[in-house]
Amino acid sequence: MKIIRTVHEMQETALSLLTDNKTIGFVPTMGFFHEGHLALMEQAKKDNDIVVSSIFVNPLQFGPSEDYEQYPRDEEKDIIHAEETGADVLFIPDTQDMYPRKMVITLDVTDRVNVMCGRSRPGHFQGVVTVLAKLFHIIQPTKTYFGRKDAQQVAVVDALIEDLNFPMELIALPTIREQDGLAKSSRNVNLRQEEREEAPWIYKALENGRQLVVDGEKNPDIVVKEVLDTINCYTSGKIDYVELLSYPDLQPVSVIEQQVILATAVYFEGARLIDNLLFDKNGEIAKRLK
Ligand code: PAJ
Repeated sequence: MKIIRTVHEMQETALSLLTDNKTIGFVPTMGFFHEGHLALMEQAKKDNDIVVSSIFVNPLQFGPSEDYEQYPRDEEKDIIHAEETGADVLFIPDTQDMYPRKMVITLDVTDRVNVMCGRSRPGHFQGVVTVLAKLFHIIQPTKTYFGRKDAQQVAVVDALIEDLNFPMELIALPTIREQDGLAKSSRNVNLRQEEREEAPWIYKALENGRQLVVDGEKNPDIVVKEVLDTINCYTSGKIDYVELLSYPDLQPVSVIEQQVILATAVYFEGARLIDNLLFDKNGEIAKRLK
């Protein structure tokens, strides 16, 4: 596996791969790898000649009071994991190289962000699409891989690729979970022990909500209330939001009669956790995004 630390070298490498007609599968990340990240790389390996992953904790997508400094980092371990998983190139640029000066041009996201994490993290998705546009231009992937764990991010990136005609395919893969159901996240290490014990209730709460739909419930308010009550009852976390919206356009629904997302974010002292389920009008987990 080749480790590339400059934008210039990454760009040259990508161009020469493309000249050789190689397909590139790209997995953008902020590092501190867990099985969720590695599953994306594994799929990229199956689908493409070359797998490129990036590690860049993007300052643009963190708000002033957020955990940019506390975001966990372990480059040495990440390199070992990426190599074992079969990545061919690991791109680890530094902030100065990615943002040599204050950006004059950034991207604005006008839709799909006035709900869920976009509402509680103003500017977050602007930061995400701005760094991704840079990375897509630098790496020029054939396919790019994202996790459904961050389903709003998938909805926004889907629009980025479509609206700005990036010539690549977005592949979104299922959420990888711990044995107790907690969605794997780099931030889980920052949970205190009691919080870690309570955290699986987030997934259980979403599953309780989905079960109501399986049993015939069509009213989103009742489903949302079930999730709120379960999280409030079994955890000490402070709920940021529980929302049920159409997917991927993220509009409110009055009756559950199409593909929807049931999503939540919960603040613990150690970390803010997010999770979601995507399902159809019968409560069946969605296989495709659209
Ligand atoms: P990061 O949080 O490191 O996540 C990188 C990718 O891994 C994202 O596509 C995310 O959805 C996926 N992922 C994380 N946890 C997962 C899980 N439990 N199961 C499946 N996939 C999972 O998301 C980002 O970084 C950044 O916003 C980024 C896209 C790199 C832009 O800076």
